[in-house]
Amino acid sequence: MARIAVVGTGGWGKNHVRVLNELQCLAAVCDVDMERAGAFSKKYRVPAYPSLEEMLKRERLDGITICTPATTHFQVATKALAAGLHTFVEKPLSTTLKDGETLIDAAKKADKILTVGFIERFNPPITALRQMISEKKLGDLILLEFHRENRRGAGISDVGIVHDASVHDIDTACWLFGGVPKVVYSRVGSMRDPPEHEDFATILLGFSGQRTAFLVTNWITPHRVRTLSAVFSGGVVDVDFVTQQTSIHEGDATTIPTRPVQEPLTLELKEFVSAIDEGRQPLVTGKDGLNVLRVAEAVLASSASGAPIYLG
Ligand SMILES: NC(=O)c1ccc[n+]([C@@H]2O[C@H](COP(=O)([O-])OP(=O)(O)OC[C@H]3O[C@@H](n4cnc5c(N)ncnc54)[C@H](O)[C@@H]3O)[C@@H](O)[C@H]2O)c1
Repeated sequence: MARIAVVGTGGWGKNHVRVLNELQCLAAVCDVDMERAGAFSKKYRVPAYPSLEEMLKRERLDGITICTPATTHFQVATKALAAGLHTFVEKPLSTTLKDGETLIDAAKKADKILTVGFIERFNPPITALRQMISEKKLGDLILLEFHRENRRGAGISDVGIVHDASVHDIDTACWLFGGVPKVVYSRVGSMRDPPEHEDFATILLGFSGQRTAFLVTNWITPHRVRTLSAVFSGGVVDVDFVTQQTSIHEGDATTIPTRPVQEPLTLELKEFVSAIDEGRQPLVTGKDGLNVLRVAEAVLASSASGAPIYLG
């Protein structure tokens, strides 16, 4: 079994710690806030470290998951890959395209896995939808409409909503359509005063053959909405990311398949561990992370210029 450490044991990293412990892969935890790391060290009986350097000196690890703020991903992942560790970076891969490219080169040079936390690919209704698309169960897929909305929590994010939240749906759209968009048009903005980062984004992604993804993301809507509607030539599939319910509409009939609810993070981390154990590439590659960054940058550029951005 791979020995994996978690760097960053805050709001989200604590879930990585719990799941990796369940998978019997948790080897150590690391957080600049030793009070946090120490609490998990006690709970899960693994060593805790205040810095990555110290942990790398003392621990024999196979891999690492990086759950630190987005603006630190590049620096932490660079050190992890240089130390020869398989590296799982939470989304986004990095905050700039150039840094993302550097990480991909570093992973190639180290011959190690570089993967990104696009968790929705592991959400069971999305896995099932992808299967329906490839089997052409409802004909051709024409439109994907995503809504990812809810009032932002008290914590201050170091990036805007495009790099924090829209990236999930950008990746899912690329995965379901099986490619990257040819054109990006968007309107983004902020309701905050002063506007620290953008907190709403409405995005149109044009894929080949007039296929389109429409993404509504905001930190404004008072209640939590995380839905996807997929329009096919022969019907519509509605997905709720939170309840994991799928509704399939064909003509006047609606069917709601039953399947067990599974924690996407467990499936996602299992895939990371299996890819390490089996010496293969994971479902989500560094290149996928880079493609999403390219689209995210185009989203911001389109909104700033008021014009569509054509990707080569
Ligand atoms: N996939 C998802 O659904 C999902 C959900 C939430 C957050 N995230 C991602 O998880 C990451 C963390 O988000 P969060 O909400 O847990 O943030 P957070 O601020 O709650 O936690 C970050 C932790 O990292 C620690 N830290 C910061 N710099 C460090 C460093 N250089 N070395 C070691 N520790 C360091 C902080 O002390 C803190 O405990 C972000 O990349 C975010 O995008 C993913």
